[in-house]
Amino acid sequence: MTMTQDELKQAVAQAAIKYVVENEIVGVGTGSTANFFIDELAKIKHKIKGAVASSDATAARLRGHGIEVFDLNQVTSMPVYIDGADEITAQGAMIKGGGAALTREKIVASVAKQFICIADGSKLVDVLGKFPLPVEVIPMAQVVVARQLKAIGGDARLRLKDGVPVLTDNGNMIIDVHGLDITDPSLLEADINNIVGVVTVGLFARHGANVCLLGTAEGVKTLVF
Ligand code: A5P
Repeated sequence: MTMTQDELKQAVAQAAIKYVVENEIVGVGTGSTANFFIDELAKIKHKIKGAVASSDATAARLRGHGIEVFDLNQVTSMPVYIDGADEITAQGAMIKGGGAALTREKIVASVAKQFICIADGSKLVDVLGKFPLPVEVIPMAQVVVARQLKAIGGDARLRLKDGVPVLTDNGNMIIDVHGLDITDPSLLEADINNIVGVVTVGLFARHGANVCLLGTAEGVKTLVF
């Protein structure tokens, strides 16, 4: 029986529940796969202390299920952060930010002991970069940053919706860098982070996933990095 992409996302969301630690706070990502996870989390909400959200949309969905959402400033540590990815390698490096939530995702993930990536099998790649690399930028710097991103070999395009720039939850803009062949994700992450005006690059390589639950036709595969 072939499974749809949504069924694969649901399967990995269910599988992620066993990584949730009782009586603790769980970090929760953003996107369609994370949404399936939030719906699963709701079923065991009495067993957890609450959650930290990586976006306003995730916070709203968590609250809609009656799950308490903590401000990250109230939290010193959390055992796991659970989120999707746009691409992931067999080494656990990821591209994220397709949903424009990369900065808060990276911040919340940095506080968690483990990053559990939940993804359907289409996200596993040999080399990152077919999915345009999202970079969150300070609005006044978008042109100067785009110029520098072009200099490193990418086709940098401001993300628009209905002809106007997409704004992140932080009030910044997103540049999507097309056409990169990212053979050294850690190096590129550091290089782009160093461009003045960049808030966050959607490469999660220096702190990549610790575990990936990958939804495939043969079932959920667990990759440990
Ligand atoms: C949100 O900004 C992203 O980092 C998401 O984690 C990523 O886009 C995956 O989304 P889907 O689960 O919807 O594919």
